[in-house]
Amino acid sequence: MKNEIEEQYKYIEKVRENNENKNLKYNIFTMGCQLNENDSEKICGMLEKMGYSSTENLNEADLVIFNTCCVRENAEDKLFGKVGEIKKQKEERGTIIAIGGCMMQEKHIVEKLHKSYPYVDIIFGTHTLHKLPEDIYKIQEESKKIDDVIDIDGEVYEGLPIKRNDNIKASVTIMYGCNNFCSYCIVPYVRGRERSRKPEDILNEVKDLASKGYKEITLLGQNVNSYDGGEGYKFSNLLYDVNKIQGIERIRFVSPHPKDFTDDVIEAIADCDKICKIIHLPLQSGSSKMLKVMNRKYTKEQYLELARKMQERIPNVVFSTDIIVGFAGETEEDFEDTLDVVRKIKFEQVYMFIYSRRVGTPGDKMENQVPEEIKHKRFDRLKELVESQIVENNQKYIGTIQRVLVEGTSKNNPNMLTGRTESNKVVIFEGTKDLIDKIIDLKIVSEHMWYLKGKIEM
Ligand code: SAH
Ligand code: SF4
Ligand code: F3S
Repeated sequence: MKNEIEEQYKYIEKVRENNENKNLKYNIFTMGCQLNENDSEKICGMLEKMGYSSTENLNEADLVIFNTCCVRENAEDKLFGKVGEIKKQKEERGTIIAIGGCMMQEKHIVEKLHKSYPYVDIIFGTHTLHKLPEDIYKIQEESKKIDDVIDIDGEVYEGLPIKRNDNIKASVTIMYGCNNFCSYCIVPYVRGRERSRKPEDILNEVKDLASKGYKEITLLGQNVNSYDGGEGYKFSNLLYDVNKIQGIERIRFVSPHPKDFTDDVIEAIADCDKICKIIHLPLQSGSSKMLKVMNRKYTKEQYLELARKMQERIPNVVFSTDIIVGFAGETEEDFEDTLDVVRKIKFEQVYMFIYSRRVGTPGDKMENQVPEEIKHKRFDRLKELVESQIVENNQKYIGTIQRVLVEGTSKNNPNMLTGRTESNKVVIFEGTKDLIDKIIDLKIVSEHMWYLKGKIEM
């Protein structure tokens, strides 16, 4: 494995020689979840070592990379549209086009690319991201189209260069893949089986980030709490160890699975002062019948019981969640169960999705699909409930003192600063720039649906 990465460093060097004094630019387009964002940071790390510099302007790019997602349908149209758009530019200036990520693990998508977009240069998958330097070198030298997608599970590669998007908050992938096969979901098919990084590799990465001044770490995986560091070292052990690292002030993690939320993980969250007391607890549906069809391995009652146990053990804990509406067979009664859980838990944040059929998953083959119209109506009803709860929740913040990690100046108002509470709410306030990257106390003075306004207490 190590040799594989050393090999790629040699290709990085060769491409860098090819690119010398050419001032070449790349443009990257990332879809999907934080894991993909983190992969893109590695792609950018490799590209910059190869002598490419980043540009926001697609027209001046010599290399265009798409890092794709396929968890829901709309991404496909978006990708094909964009790839179509750059055809002319490719003809005019020889732009290299590389497409990678989850969607490339789907055979029907790769076939469509071959057929309708034959000018794409490189297709790489989720298990071959690290070989991008070699792929680019081969395109430069042989200009032969490259398909570098493999179906077997990739290894865990360490030591790739990385260029991070932010200098206060950073993501650290701790495990790859998923073994759960929820019946609606494509992820296990495109990301392969679970494999965890070694504890020392993760801890060294976090220490390195701390030494560079990072304050907040998000541990990433499709299933973080089934992390297995070997020799009995579990997710809870990792939480305790990350919590000890000096300089890091906040720890978050996504996504845990309710079925793996063992007591030791709950204890660790309660014990570790740096772990943010907002827990993402993906519900998907509130109906025990639907949860069974979805292969989620918990019931409505078990979910509520888990939330209750956490509330009991972790003072002031709050939750965020993911919900799918309109999965195959969902009745009005099932949907009411979902609303019921939302009313009971009062989530801080709900990521809501309309079920999207994915080729190759059991859900796609089920015959009792819910008509689009009904799915949309249910989605709107859920959204209405969630938004009314957000206002209600926000109001509870008014008058309280919140610890806020200051992230920078507000995009909409450069005279204001912006930061986040431990519960991940955006707070806008007046202050001087030296506060950026500090954690400060703010008094919340008003709420505005998607953000709160705060004031420094004198
Ligand atoms: N591993 C994570 C989630 C990965 S995908 C977890 O288990 O929570 C992120 C979210 O996308 C899922 O939680 C689910 O709510 C949603 N999702 C997955 N497949 C979907 C589909 N086919 N249609 C609509 N939403 C989907
Ligand atoms: Fe998909 Fe389920 Fe795995 Fe999450 S746990 S990635 S929803 S199969
Ligand atoms: Fe999408 Fe792949 Fe993430 S399918 S949600 S980018 S793991």
